[in-house]
Amino acid sequence: MIDAQKKLVQNSWLEVSADKDQFIATLYDNFFELSPRSRFLFKRDLKLHTRNIVAKIESVIKDLNALDRVMPELIPTGGRHKDYGVTHDEFELFHVALLNTLKQFIGEGYTEELEEAWSIMYRLISSTMCSAMRINFTPT
Ligand code: HEM
Repeated sequence: MIDAQKKLVQNSWLEVSADKDQFIATLYDNFFELSPRSRFLFKRDLKLHTRNIVAKIESVIKDLNALDRVMPELIPTGGRHKDYGVTHDEFELFHVALLNTLKQFIGEGYTEELEEAWSIMYRLISSTMCSAMRINFTPT
C-alpha cells in the first residue's frame, strides 16, 4: 500500500466517521442484506459485532504506518472466527458491504482509486484473519 493510498483511506475515514453511528448502522444493514444466513452465527448482539469490526478497521487505519503494532492481534481474532463457524465467503461479502457503505456515504467523491485503496486495506485484515482460520489457529 503506497503512501497516497494510505492518505486516501485516512482522509475518507475522517469524513465518514463524523457520523460513525450511522455508518455502523448502514454497514450492518448492507452486510445482512447480502448475507442473511450469517445472522444465525451470532450468540450475542449483532450490532455489537459491526461496532467491533469498525473499531478494528479504525485501529488499522490509524496505524497504517506501523502495521506491526495492529496486525498481530488480528491472528487470534481470526482463529476464533473458525470456531464461530465463519467462512471465507462471508469475509468476501463483508468486503462488498463495506465498499457499498463507503460509496453511499462518500457519494461523488468515491473514485476507483479510493475503492482500490480501501480494498487493499480491507484485504490486509481479511487475509490475516482468514489465514488464521485456515491453519486453525487457537490462541492460548
Ligand atoms: C474485518 C473483519 C472482522 C473483524 C475485524 C471481526 C472482529 C470480531 C471481534 C473483535 C469479535 C469479538 C470476539 C473475538 O474477538 O473473538 C468478533 C466476533 C464474532 N464475529 Fe467477527 N469480525 C470480522 C468479520 C466477521 C464476519 C465476516 C463474520 C461472519 C458473519 C463474523 C462473525 C463473528 C461471530 C459469529 C462472532 C462471535 C460473536 C457472537 O457470537 O455474537 N465476523 N468478530
